[in-house]
Amino acid sequence: MLKIAVLVSGGGTNLQAIIDAIGSGKITNTKIEFVFSNNKNAYALTRAMNAGIPTVSLSRKDYDSVESYDKAMLSEFKKRDIELIVLAGFLHNLSPEFTEEYKGRIINIHPSLIPSFCGKGFYGLHVHEAALEKGVKVTGATVHFVDAGIDTGRIITQKAVYVEEGDTPETLQRRVMENAEWIILPEAINKIAAGEIRIGE
Ligand code: GRF
Repeated sequence: MLKIAVLVSGGGTNLQAIIDAIGSGKITNTKIEFVFSNNKNAYALTRAMNAGIPTVSLSRKDYDSVESYDKAMLSEFKKRDIELIVLAGFLHNLSPEFTEEYKGRIINIHPSLIPSFCGKGFYGLHVHEAALEKGVKVTGATVHFVDAGIDTGRIITQKAVYVEEGDTPETLQRRVMENAEWIILPEAINKIAAGEIRIGE
């Protein structure tokens, strides 16, 4: 059984997609040990509680430095023997100490086809605003390993989504979620649990 932790900051639709995929058997051999948030008001925490999954939330502002915050976070993962950390809309940049400690064991979902529209400042609706501004006709989502950089780790899988005439950042975000993110993130977790994608390297 692959023991995973899902890290969230907001609405948690990607978390919901993982919970549903475990429920329907699309993801096998996997248990969400707990859901972690840096935002105690995240609706994602309610989704976790509704599914009977334990939650932990620690606020960055209660710590002096990113190092001490990440250290407190790390101990939460260590004590539960977490094997894979899944960032699903987690809006805190992990310190190099953290990413080194879980090297090859942290994955993230990003709402564009990396290397387009990624890196510093490209999160949430900003990603889709930038895609529309550029006038791209195809965008999508990427699941990738997390290293010390922002959206720089090795790509695991991607799925393309067409931009449509009259799209707003909101409509495009929704289509990218429905047609890409909610599909490829559960698929990647299932492949990791099945040993088809190797982690920890
Ligand atoms: C998603 O678009 C995800 O790709 C991005 O943040 C958003 C989170 O949405 N990193 P949700 O909290 O899973 O609904």
